[in-house]
Amino acid sequence: MSEPVRVLLIDDDEDDFLIVSDMLAEAKNSRFKLEWVRTYEAGLEAIRRQEHDVCLLDYFMGRRNGLELLERVAETGCRAPVIFLTAHGNYALDLKAMEAGASDYLVKGQISAPILERSIRYSIMNKRIMGELNESKEELRLLASQLLSAQEDERKRIARELHDSIGSSLSAVKFCIDNVAGRLKNEPAITESFSMLSRAMEQAIDETRRIMSDLRPSMLDDLGIVSTLGWFCREFEAIYSAIGVEKNIRIDEAQIPQSLKIIIFRIIQEAMNNGAKHSRAGKISLSLARLDGSIHLCVKDDGIGFDRDAAAAGAGGASFGLTSMRERAELSGGKFEIESSREAGTTITACWAVESLLEHRGGAS
Ligand SMILES: Nc1ncnc2c1ncn2[C@@H]1O[C@H](COP(=O)(O)OP(=O)(O)OP(=O)(O)O)[C@@H](O)[C@H]1O
Ligand SMILES: [Mg+2]
Repeated sequence: MSEPVRVLLIDDDEDDFLIVSDMLAEAKNSRFKLEWVRTYEAGLEAIRRQEHDVCLLDYFMGRRNGLELLERVAETGCRAPVIFLTAHGNYALDLKAMEAGASDYLVKGQISAPILERSIRYSIMNKRIMGELNESKEELRLLASQLLSAQEDERKRIARELHDSIGSSLSAVKFCIDNVAGRLKNEPAITESFSMLSRAMEQAIDETRRIMSDLRPSMLDDLGIVSTLGWFCREFEAIYSAIGVEKNIRIDEAQIPQSLKIIIFRIIQEAMNNGAKHSRAGKISLSLARLDGSIHLCVKDDGIGFDRDAAAAGAGGASFGLTSMRERAELSGGKFEIESSREAGTTITACWAVESLLEHRGGAS
């Protein structure tokens, strides 16, 4: 025989206790074990023990209101669903109870044993499904965060490999070419060929360096985000000479958690590259600041803007850059927003509250 369903009834009226008790005894398809307490304080105490499968809560008890208790119940992380019982049905209260997290709202005079039994059964099942959904969401969040972290580690590793293998080989070959060319000064035809070779080697070295810093700017690890952003903006202006960059950094290096630096850099990199590729902007403003205990990032262009729904639909729902900026911000505990219009251009903002950063420490690095 299956275990009885453990029910906690919080109600100051003994008649109600007797009615509920009779109904539960009458229910044909389930067995119930009822515990009754008369006050909210005793109810809260009983809920904290986490020994019940469901809680039936009287909505009005003297001057106290069941919503207050429900709020306190939520703070205790109660696993049992809460069903409100009320003497007078009222749609507005019903809505309030639902918004506060109640599983059901039953009017005392209108319930019968089967209705109560069904409400308890559905509430327990729904609460269990919600719990499993939340666990899955949390697991997904963790997995996505580990994926981003692994991706950054891999990029770092490839950048290091490129530097140590191809990068140093190319530099060695260029050194030899210049050396031989220097010794063959009297052979103009050969010297010309050698200097062409040397220029080609130099381009290959520059290209390798560019790929390396795209993969992971080593400056970020060596000198920090503030210097890296200075370098990134200078490079950006050199490449996209028609776009002016206005940079406003009002935060100290030490105020930015280490794990957040690469996330901030990647968001800026994508937002500014998007500005250059798509916006036809004349100016891009970048600001990074510490305000009211939070870190605020904003990248704004004065370009043509875009329709976010159309952009998502156009990319078959998979516009990678916008999605990855949002994921990076949210998986590290931040908030992310995009505003875009033809008149005002595009503004990307991300914000991290310092407390949430502490919780997410060890996320994507
Ligand atoms: N700053 C911007 N100004 C105007 N349009 C933009 C801007 N940023 C994004 N868009 C539009 O949104 C679309 C999606 O951007 P998203 O960064 O996701 O993809 P993408 O830049 O096209 O490709 P990638 O995956 O290389 O980033 C772009 O193709 C563009 O149409
Ligand atoms: Mg993009």
